Amino acid sequence: MKRALGVCYYPEHWPREMWEADAAEMAAAGLTWVRIGEFAWSRIETAPDVFDWGWLDDAVDVLKGAGLKVIMGTPTATPPRWMLTKHPDMLAYDAEGRPRGFGSRRHYCFSHDGYREEGRRIAELFAERYGDKVNAWQTDNEYECHDTAISYSPAAKVAFQEWCAQRYQSPDALNRAWGNVFWSMDYADFDDIDLPNLTVTDPNPAHVLAFRRFSSDQVVRFNRVQCDAIRRHSEAPIIHNFMGRITAFDHYDVSADLDVTSWDSYPLGFLMDRNDAPEDFKTAFARQGDPDFQAFHHDLYRTCGAVREDAAIKDGRWWVMEQQPGPVNWAPWNPAPLPGMVRLWAWEAFAHGAEAVLYFRWRQAPFAQEQQHAGLKRPDNAPAPGMDEAKAVAREIEALPEVGTARSDVALIFDYDSAYAWEAQPQGRDFDYFHLAYETYRALRAAGLSIDILPADRQEYSGYKMIFAPGLLSLDDARLKALSGSGAMVIMGPRAGLKTDELSINVPLGPSLPGVDAAVTHTESLPPSHPMPLADGGAIWKWFEHLEGGAEVLEATAAGLPAMVGSGPFSYLAGWLEPDALARLVAKYAAAAGLETLVLPEGLRVRDTDTHRFWFNYAPVALEFEGRVFEPGAVLWEAL
Ligand code: GAL
Repeated sequence: MKRALGVCYYPEHWPREMWEADAAEMAAAGLTWVRIGEFAWSRIETAPDVFDWGWLDDAVDVLKGAGLKVIMGTPTATPPRWMLTKHPDMLAYDAEGRPRGFGSRRHYCFSHDGYREEGRRIAELFAERYGDKVNAWQTDNEYECHDTAISYSPAAKVAFQEWCAQRYQSPDALNRAWGNVFWSMDYADFDDIDLPNLTVTDPNPAHVLAFRRFSSDQVVRFNRVQCDAIRRHSEAPIIHNFMGRITAFDHYDVSADLDVTSWDSYPLGFLMDRNDAPEDFKTAFARQGDPDFQAFHHDLYRTCGAVREDAAIKDGRWWVMEQQPGPVNWAPWNPAPLPGMVRLWAWEAFAHGAEAVLYFRWRQAPFAQEQQHAGLKRPDNAPAPGMDEAKAVAREIEALPEVGTARSDVALIFDYDSAYAWEAQPQGRDFDYFHLAYETYRALRAAGLSIDILPADRQEYSGYKMIFAPGLLSLDDARLKALSGSGAMVIMGPRAGLKTDELSINVPLGPSLPGVDAAVTHTESLPPSHPMPLADGGAIWKWFEHLEGGAEVLEATAAGLPAMVGSGPFSYLAGWLEPDALARLVAKYAAAAGLETLVLPEGLRVRDTDTHRFWFNYAPVALEFEGRVFEPGAVLWEAL
């Protein structure tokens, strides 16, 4: 498949006289896709049931006339001001119980029936009008952006009570599942259940977990209503643009209603805004981004893109819907990318299987919230620095052979339900599930391995040689059977299989892995002052579990406590490994699984497809590796 480039465009921001020239220039730059419409509700439906479609019809015609393919966004991320007058109770509420105001975007509550119906109505109107004209759809824009998936509104409370009634069937069953005998928290009626905010001290973690599952289901439902409406009138693929490092809802579940997944990749914004790396790392990668962060999400969303068709992971359909083209406006610091990175980021996405990469945005807007956000063009219409790099990628796509689909021997299980559980009950300031999974991913990548990220509920896991499953909330028999039948070496833990599905401690004590006589008797979270050195090098930090049982000890602490045990396909890791220990473990297990590893210098990364190996240098300096020199921003590929 030929990979494609595109751009996000807002015709409503620019005089009509500019549109033809813009479209022609996009096409001449080698862009083939253009996304429009997703924030334009107030200019389409100017008052309730008063429509002005003319300009959007015109914009679609102009863009298509220039040979571009159009992605139409449903505009539900930006309900116009009149919508609030119509539905005064549609606002999302924050955890402090305050409604979130009008004047930016995403101010709706996913549980508001009236607003969900408005979303269906406008999606249906869009689809009726453009169903056979546009080439793809985007639903809404970035669910959860600005912390909006979890709402503590009155509408959410009623919907949560209904959700609980459905799930637990009787208040007694709910009380038993949550352990509400504790602190006299029993409910006599579903109508008495509040949302788990504004409590005096910690709410019951099982209550929080239920609310998180509910909140995720509300996002799925909101999205599904729009997908169904669009499908009634259009055969064009439906996409949503997810974000980076988001655990507020289950992306696999939302993806089950999409034809293609996509995500919005802002490497520099993410490094500054949502990365736990040490300051010297952030300094080194300030203009390039974290060398593993984009790859992690590419791999995650490739899997999401395989959910609906139940396709092989390597064939998952996914895009980068928004790609950073220069400095953004929203992170604590907003540096400009190092020359070459705007090109590198696109090639990295293609190497992970992206069908298309769209830059955000065409021209920098001189007004409103994002006026400091770069585009491919400056506000005065001159090209911005990103433009030449985008054009270079477009030329390279033309000249290159097809890159083939992704291929991985190694898998990492990433599970949203577990994220909710450990966010509800971290038991230590540093226990962050995303971080735990991400550090494992980083160690695998640093060893030159290509990785698939998998959900925790697959029927089968065959085809992999090594599977890592850190932090899985619960392990049922079906899951264990699927894993043990995969033929892979499976490394579980820390904190895997120790709880029930309702976040109580398993008795008998977990993890109860088949053939592994080991139980976790008690756990500790470790302050930074208390790492636990391992006998064979490196250390455990943040989290440690005390094991009993006769299982073979595979790793021990310097003080002689078992730190990893196992037999057969299963090993159980009883602590959070710091990076050196993790690197050692990955090399040891990869060798045992017959996988070739590399010891890549910081910043150099590889990704294999079934036809090519790609090399990327994220470091700010030239790197030498195995006799080759990689300049900063270098992208190299070689046939396998
Ligand atoms: C994304 C969003 C875009 C724009 C962009 C700025 O999160 O989808 O609409 O705000 O960030 O970087």
